[in-house]
Amino acid sequence: MASASRTFTRALRTATPSFRATSTRSSARFVAPTQTAFRQQWQRGYASGKETEDGADKYEGNPTGLIAGAIALLAGAGAYGLYTQKPELFGQEGKKKVFVARFEDYQKVYDAIAKRLEEHDEYDDGSYGPVLLRLAWHASGTYDKLTNTGGSNGATMRFAPEGDHGANAGLKAARDFLEPVKEAFPWITYSDMWILGGVCAIQEMQGPKIPYRAGRSDRDVSFCTPDGRLPDASKDSGHIRAIFGRMGFDDRAMVALSGAHALGRCHTDRSGFSGPWTFSPTTLTNDYFKLLLEEKWQYKKWNGPKQFEDVKTKTLMMLPTDMELVKDKSFRQFTDLYARDNEAFFNDFRDAVVTLFELGVPFQQPEDQRYTFKSSFD
Ligand code: HEM
Repeated sequence: MASASRTFTRALRTATPSFRATSTRSSARFVAPTQTAFRQQWQRGYASGKETEDGADKYEGNPTGLIAGAIALLAGAGAYGLYTQKPELFGQEGKKKVFVARFEDYQKVYDAIAKRLEEHDEYDDGSYGPVLLRLAWHASGTYDKLTNTGGSNGATMRFAPEGDHGANAGLKAARDFLEPVKEAFPWITYSDMWILGGVCAIQEMQGPKIPYRAGRSDRDVSFCTPDGRLPDASKDSGHIRAIFGRMGFDDRAMVALSGAHALGRCHTDRSGFSGPWTFSPTTLTNDYFKLLLEEKWQYKKWNGPKQFEDVKTKTLMMLPTDMELVKDKSFRQFTDLYARDNEAFFNDFRDAVVTLFELGVPFQQPEDQRYTFKSSFD
């Protein structure tokens, strides 16, 4: 295009040898450059070579040059059109279209995770679901409302300092599980994918629908949070309130969130604790609250950290922090509620999880336009 216009300018010069002089002179007479005045000036400059005595312009140019100029202009325009439509013909890659993912795209990622969950039933109690949920929770649970740091935006657990925090032991299994999904959908960020993994895990383990927003970005190692932001299972209710209060949660939400321990198990080679909380560790129910209240719990006699076991079967476990939900009066009222009302648990759990997964994320997607994914049961 640039060379076409150069050709055109050259052609003009041939056509009107006095173009530049006339033009300059005309410009000097510019006082109020209205459009009409400019058009007249320009037409003068273009068409005339010399002013006659009565002021009328007399044409002195070369018409062959003019025609050549017009042809060059047309050819240039054609070439430019072709360039914009088919840049590859010019050896250019062209402008890459920016991919904007929509609901359908995220649903595809959801489906891919759900498919992998179904295929890989060799893990633990038959599902990667619990550890996927734990990954999403640990990515989000580092949030500090005072400094607005941490949270699921960033996926900083990819980096050694945070990935190596004691609380995150074993979560590599979840991150590795999701890696092929990232390869299949490279446009999604790790941070959006990890949270989508948590949403998918809850829904596929028959929990409530968890509305989801996308828009997290992956950040560098400098955004890793300091160790100690996640809860320590050997502590009491004061610690639970300090940790979850720092994220902005109240007692009710703390108890609702703890209901996630209906799922999965503790591993001696990860946290040091051992065993599942319920008899159905791959299905989300309010059984965790029921068992907390209905079973008799005693200290487990073993060479490991202090934990509880059910007197009857000695196959289930509770962490010291779990027992606080019965001991602490304020926590207890919600434990009672959720034990007798699964719907109340599901509703409060959904609301608290949506909040948890969105802590500290600067979303563009409005709150009233969250995505609700179809699960494989729908
Ligand atoms: C006081 C709060 C909490 C404490 C002290 C705590 C502690 C623990 C510990 C020690 C484990 C065992 C890890 C292992 O050995 O593999 C565990 C597992 C788990 N936690 Fe929590 N947790 C808390 C809150 C939560 C919350 C809020 C969620 C989710 C909303 C959650 C979801 C899970 C899940 C799903 C597992 C099972 C992981 C698996 O099976 O691999 N936890 N938690």
